[in-house]
Amino acid sequence: MGHVSKRLIVALDLAEPVRADELVEKLSPLGVSFKVGLELFMAGGPAMVAKLASRHNLFLDLKFYDIPNTVAAAVKGAAELGVWMLNIHASGGRDMMLAAREAIDASVNKPLLCAVTILTSMNNDLLAETGNPLKITDQVSILSKLAADCGLDGVICSPLEIAAVKKTVSSQFLTITPGIRPRGENKSDQARVADPAGAIKAGGDYLVVGRPITGADDPLGAARKILAEMGEVT
Ligand code: C5P
Repeated sequence: MGHVSKRLIVALDLAEPVRADELVEKLSPLGVSFKVGLELFMAGGPAMVAKLASRHNLFLDLKFYDIPNTVAAAVKGAAELGVWMLNIHASGGRDMMLAAREAIDASVNKPLLCAVTILTSMNNDLLAETGNPLKITDQVSILSKLAADCGLDGVICSPLEIAAVKKTVSSQFLTITPGIRPRGENKSDQARVADPAGAIKAGGDYLVVGRPITGADDPLGAARKILAEMGEVT
């Protein structure tokens, strides 16, 4: 899993690449991993991703969800940018996930391939409205099992489902968990949350944290505090 502080993935959810560069510079001494999602990707594009990936563990969080041929092509392009991890939606199904797996196996750079299960902003009522009557934990377990069958390396789920995923698949199957909120911090649009210590205690492998760091007056201090809560020495 690499150095312990790499287990904290800071979500660079900023609309201006210059601000993202500043934040990366500030946090670099901690040796954390970084994540580029839709917001920064729209502003900085593939060039920014390649630049960050050449210096840091970079998770490209574009959550591909399309027909197998299209997803395979997008995954190939993402792998070529040198990223460390990328993701697709598990609900795209077996053929889509197998196509993504094959695309990575055929690439020179082989990032970790993970699948989004159910977004951490969803609750049981919101899931039911999409026509799925299952409880979120059960649906996450079903999608995790399918992702593992397709040879994926892990899933993105909430910290509340870590134990269920590990039990359904295996303790080696990676869990990457957004929905991390230090105690007392605003949940905003996240529904299924836990604090950093709780996610580690549940067996989580990588913790994704955005606004509690990007929105802090002192992002370095906020990140240090989260690492300390994760039990890391900084
Ligand atoms: O600011 P916050 O800590 O809520 O950021 C969480 C990050 O994780 C965001 O970049 C969001 O896009 C991402 N994410 C998520 N839920 C998922 C997958 C990714 O919140 N299931």
